[in-house]
Amino acid sequence: MNDLLRGIVVLMTVGITSLLMFSLSPGGEARGDDGNDMMPGLTHKAWQEECASCHLAYSPALLPRASWTRLMGDLGHHFGENASIDPATEADIRRFLEANAADSGRSRTGSRVMRRMQPNETPLRITETAWFVRKHDEVSRTIWSRKSVKSAANCAACHRQAEQGVFNERDIRIPN
Ligand code: HEC
Ligand code: HEC
Repeated sequence: MNDLLRGIVVLMTVGITSLLMFSLSPGGEARGDDGNDMMPGLTHKAWQEECASCHLAYSPALLPRASWTRLMGDLGHHFGENASIDPATEADIRRFLEANAADSGRSRTGSRVMRRMQPNETPLRITETAWFVRKHDEVSRTIWSRKSVKSAANCAACHRQAEQGVFNERDIRIPN
């Protein structure tokens, strides 16, 4: 093999290898961007069992600590539903949510959520935070009201990897 040919083979091998690594590492190519910093690895047994039965288990990084305290303090009146659970489980989940809240300093997404939050603001809805509204300013009213979307809180309607905690642009598909 002459040098030129060998050079080409080496370049191609390097190219293919990095292409493979790029596509095989889940989310690895975009660390630090919002969509990949939602603490996808976060696990907590009771949270996943109790808070993912009616909707997905929303990342604690999307609301401040005081919001989670408020929300967990009234599960009997939870957006028109009764989501009460036994006090021990409730306390366990509350501790987890508070420890990983937007203002816990544990994630970049949390810091971004806080940057747009008014002092003393304790929203119960992620979808009403200034952070959420701004991230979705390109989504029109007609899209939000589609049957296939139902509600802005139905993240998984558009974010196909929402259940895995992945929200990057590549995995968004708005349903018809
Ligand atoms: C019995 C069903 C049910 C259970 C269990 C439940 N939720 Fe909900 N949750 C709802 C409904 C219904 C809504 C309103 C959804 C909508 O507006 O589309 C909601 C909304 C929310 C929202 C606001 C979403 C937004 O609009 O940004 C948060 C946060 C939330 N739930 C957290 C929790 C947590 C934490 C738990 C576990 C302790 C939990 N939920 C368990 C039914 C439930
Ligand atoms: C109607 C479809 C739809 C729903 C429902 C929806 N999103 Fe989105 N989301 C989008 C679109 C479109 C974008 C903007 C992508 C862009 O900027 O090009 C986006 C952007 C984002 C981003 C920023 C991604 C990035 O890489 O910058 C995050 C994080 C996010 N959404 C989280 C959520 C969460 C959490 C929920 C549920 C509480 C949700 N979204 C519900 C369509 C949706």
